[in-house]
Amino acid sequence: MRLPTIPDLGELSGRRVLLRADLNVPLHGGEVSDDSRIREVVPTIRMLCEAGAGVTVCSHLGRPRGRPEAAFDMAPVRRRLGELAPDVELLENLRFDPGEEAGDPALAERLVAGHDLFVNDAFGACHRAHASIVGPPRLLPSAAGLLVLVEAAEILSLRRSPRRPFVVVLGGAKVADKLGVVEAVCAMADAVLVGGAMCFTFLAAAGHHIGDSLFDPDRLEDCRALLDGDLPLHLPEDLVGLGPGGRIGDPRAGGAVRQFGSDLPDGWLGADIGPGTAAFFADTIADAGTVFWNGPLGAFEDPRFAAGTNTVAEALAETRAHTVVGGGDSGAALVSLGLGGSVSHHSTGGGASLELLERGDLPGLIALRESAERLSLPTHEIDQRD
Ligand code: 3PG
Repeated sequence: MRLPTIPDLGELSGRRVLLRADLNVPLHGGEVSDDSRIREVVPTIRMLCEAGAGVTVCSHLGRPRGRPEAAFDMAPVRRRLGELAPDVELLENLRFDPGEEAGDPALAERLVAGHDLFVNDAFGACHRAHASIVGPPRLLPSAAGLLVLVEAAEILSLRRSPRRPFVVVLGGAKVADKLGVVEAVCAMADAVLVGGAMCFTFLAAAGHHIGDSLFDPDRLEDCRALLDGDLPLHLPEDLVGLGPGGRIGDPRAGGAVRQFGSDLPDGWLGADIGPGTAAFFADTIADAGTVFWNGPLGAFEDPRFAAGTNTVAEALAETRAHTVVGGGDSGAALVSLGLGGSVSHHSTGGGASLELLERGDLPGLIALRESAERLSLPTHEIDQRD
């Protein structure tokens, strides 16, 4: 894939640059509790500032519904960004304006006012065709930031030439959001290992009894079609369940915790993959050439149901495979085990990395390429790594 890069924008000294970043960071007690996404954009800010540009940063934070909400005020992010990159201005939360998610060109016009150039370094938001992502490239000479280049190249190289066996581990809650990616990765991977809450729709589609586990009745047919397709898809063969009266995240509420095969009795809720499945997933990861992991394998925030996710995180840290992790929850599981630095690449964008893996392109990247074509700006091949 070719993208315009910052050097392709020409002279930067004295130019005003609008920089779209993904500073959608977790907050706790009014402070940033994980500043990774802020730190990851600092190299691009430095590159622009050292070249003499003035930089205005903009980002969304959380999911306010098109109007200001105190809980999503940018002040804590602004404080942390100010410590890491003084001298840049950070605009208010883009999603306080209903035009952002609606992709309103009028908002894009307002954002670019007073700026000469646009840089998109918001990899985690490149799958959203929002005003600040697709609008500015239609109005200003535009380029991808350093983080977008690294992240996109990493995922595209998985699609193009993964070292085999290529193993994809998918967990998390929403099967509806992940069916497309399951189908796409089944065509490119040697093994697709499915856990997390999303596995119960697949297990139900395969005719298993899932007790009171969460599942998506509207997706049963889609899951059944995938399971009928002779694909390298592996579902859990054992599970950990929470018995009647129990509550996830509240051990004091009671409720028994027990291991089962792939069927659960009525009244029981599937909350983690079982130890046999976790061991199979870990062995498959150990023998892999490349591993991509997105989504926890169980309700890992509750220590009673963290074993599956922890086993996969440890296997990822130990394997000699090239390992790519996407998504805040999978990353949080690694960090909580002290394994944060042990994977080859930790993507800042869970949804964006899944969508790029599935489709091979993203609205934010398309907008940058079209901008360069329209203005006859040079572009660079970004996925050269083998
Ligand atoms: C993310 O956290 O994945 C990105 O910031 C995108 O946020 P969104 O899912 O609310 O669009």
